[in-house]
Amino acid sequence: MLLGVNIDHTATLREARESDVPDIMTCAVLAQLGGADGITVHLRQDRRHINESDIIALKAGLRVPLNVEISTNKEIVKFISAIKPEKVCLVPESPNELTTEGGLNLFSKPVFTAIKSTVKILKKKGIEVALFIEPDKKMIDKAVLAGADAIELNTNAYSECMTVAEIDKEFDRIEEAANYGSLKKGILINAGHGLNYDNVEQITYIDTVTELNIGHSIVAHSVIFGIEAAVREMRELVDKY
Ligand code: PXP
Repeated sequence: MLLGVNIDHTATLREARESDVPDIMTCAVLAQLGGADGITVHLRQDRRHINESDIIALKAGLRVPLNVEISTNKEIVKFISAIKPEKVCLVPESPNELTTEGGLNLFSKPVFTAIKSTVKILKKKGIEVALFIEPDKKMIDKAVLAGADAIELNTNAYSECMTVAEIDKEFDRIEEAANYGSLKKGILINAGHGLNYDNVEQITYIDTVTELNIGHSIVAHSVIFGIEAAVREMRELVDKY
C-alpha cells in the first residue's frame, strides 16, 4: 500500500507568520526519507497554505510523485495543467471550511459536468486523476462515468467513530466500496482524511486500496517528536556565553 504524505500544514505554520519557515521543500525531502511514496498538497483558492511557488518547487525537486488536490476552479486547473504533477485529486471546496468537508456530489448535474470536463483536460496532459468521494457504490459508478482513473474514498466518518460497532460499520462501508470499485469497475482506489496512528491499521487490511493520503496527524506527530531537540538546540545557544 502506498503512503502519500500531505504536507499542507507545514505551510499552514509558515503562513501563520507569513515567513519562509518551515521550508516546504525540506519538509517534503524529509518525508521522502521517512518513506513517503508520494507528496500531496492542496492548492486552495484562498491559498491559505500551499501556493503556486510551492507546487513549482515540489514538481522540480521531488523524486516521488506529486499529488495535488484542487477544485474545478478554471484558473487553478489551467496552472496545474501546465505544471503537470503526476497526480491530481479533485475535491469539493468551500471558502469557510476548516478542511475538505466531504466527497464530491457527483449526483449534482453541474458538479458532474464540471468534474467530467476537468478530468478530460487533466488526463489529456497525462495526469492521473482521482475523485474524492464518499464510499458509496452509486457514487463510484458516477466517478467511472466521469472518466476518473482513481477514486479517493473519504475515511473521515470512519475516523470520527467512537464505538467499536460504529467503527466496524464504517470500515465495512469503505471495504465494500473499495472492493466494488476495484474488482467490479477496475478503478484505482485511494483512501484518506482523518487517518492517524491509531486508526490506520484496520484500513491497511483492505487489499484493494492501493494508496493512503495522510496529512494532519503526521504533521502534528512531527511537532511532538521534534520539539525536544528543537528546544535543546535553542537552550545550547542561549547558554553558550
Ligand atoms: N484526502 C483529501 C482529499 C483531503 O482533502 C485531505 C486533507 O487535505 C486528506 C486526504 C488528508 O487528510 P488529513 O489531513 O486528515 O490526514
